[in-house]
Amino acid sequence: MAVAIALVLLIVGSILFHFLSPWYFTPIASNWGAMDDTISLTFWVTGFVFVSVNLFLAYCVIRYRHRKGSRAKYEPENKKLEWWLTGFTTVGVVAMLAPGLFVWAKFVHPPQEAAVVEAVGAQWHWRFRFPGSDGKLGTVDARHVSEKNPFGLNPADPNGQDDVLVSSPEVHLPVGKPVKLLLRSIDVLHDFAVPQFRAKMDLVPGLVTFIWFTPTRTGKFDLLCNELCGVAHYAMRGKVVVEEEPAFQAWLKGHPTFAQTSARPAGDAAAGQPLFAVCAACHGLEAQGNAALNAPKLSGQEAWYLQRQLKNYKQGARGVHEKDVFGQMMAPMAATLGDDAAIANVVAYINTLPDQPAPTTVKGNAKTGQKTYVTCEACHGPGGRGIYSTNAPGLHGMSDWYLVTQLKNFKHGIRGAHPNDLYGPQMALISTILPDDQAINDLVAYINTLK
Ligand code: CUA
Repeated sequence: MAVAIALVLLIVGSILFHFLSPWYFTPIASNWGAMDDTISLTFWVTGFVFVSVNLFLAYCVIRYRHRKGSRAKYEPENKKLEWWLTGFTTVGVVAMLAPGLFVWAKFVHPPQEAAVVEAVGAQWHWRFRFPGSDGKLGTVDARHVSEKNPFGLNPADPNGQDDVLVSSPEVHLPVGKPVKLLLRSIDVLHDFAVPQFRAKMDLVPGLVTFIWFTPTRTGKFDLLCNELCGVAHYAMRGKVVVEEEPAFQAWLKGHPTFAQTSARPAGDAAAGQPLFAVCAACHGLEAQGNAALNAPKLSGQEAWYLQRQLKNYKQGARGVHEKDVFGQMMAPMAATLGDDAAIANVVAYINTLPDQPAPTTVKGNAKTGQKTYVTCEACHGPGGRGIYSTNAPGLHGMSDWYLVTQLKNFKHGIRGAHPNDLYGPQMALISTILPDDQAINDLVAYINTLK
């Protein structure tokens, strides 16, 4: 009897959990309602089987329980019953799978009018490319990939010159317009998934796969990589902003074409030297850093990283958090740089300064820190020199006290939480591997020992 009651409780509990659970689909934001329907159908079919099989089991436990003197009858074959069971199972399986085939047929046939956009995945971030005014994407090849050409566009292809490059993990799309995303990976398997769109698709190195959908409501949605692609897989996130057409067009206009990025002049160190006078007051004449003034070392740091941070400060994506006291001091300094050219120039000047390792000030257990650094190494490199393609700045030889402050800031949501800080959130996610201040000191102590 107890077993029969347990079985009935299992059924009631499962049904209640299914209908009352708060863990269910996020409200849908695309045309793929049919996917939800097929999943609901699967729940109905499997739910019906689950309930009837368990009820039958409970019935048998009671009906055929042990009684003194009664014997079971051996009946190995029952043709009629087998026909019934085979028939029921067939109907159930067909009901469950056939509708999915119709949805799949739609899924692999994007509408003719769908706008073509490219999403490029790499360990561990996203980039996007829109065809320019000619409506055609230029050809690409891994051989062309470089710091100046991260998409690997073919410089000789005229179709690629007006392609609009979005070098950040945030993409905007117009609401109500079907879009066909061409998916390309430049290293390993990734997967493009926005839970609210339901549809998702793998990115396969060497292939161009695709996914299509029509965003049906405006909003900001998380873009997740749904394929285990290395240590920072969980931090490979982006944003899809769905908005009205005019807002989308304005956003798109704010991004450079391939021709514009390739024509961008390199920074002019001579023009940057007078601009650096403001910086030198705190960071030192050779940008060697000054702990007393909370100014980190800048010399020897990657140019793209310095430029990105200066822009973040200038645009209010950094140095605005109320607890970021030193960042707040830096923000008005960055504002003295008039435009992108001025930023490029001052960074070019910093790159001409001698790169002497900063004095080490942090005490910690380097041996313990070494174990943690295995994760950092994936992006920042074995020597901590920084790697452009993984958006990782140089760490070794930089001001160690500054690394400690920044790791704490990332961990406590002081840095990397601003919606316009497009690359900070990844580091904020990674910083959660550091349980406490001691772990941070140990890690930085190890970074100090790198060669
Ligand atoms: Cu890319 Cu997981």
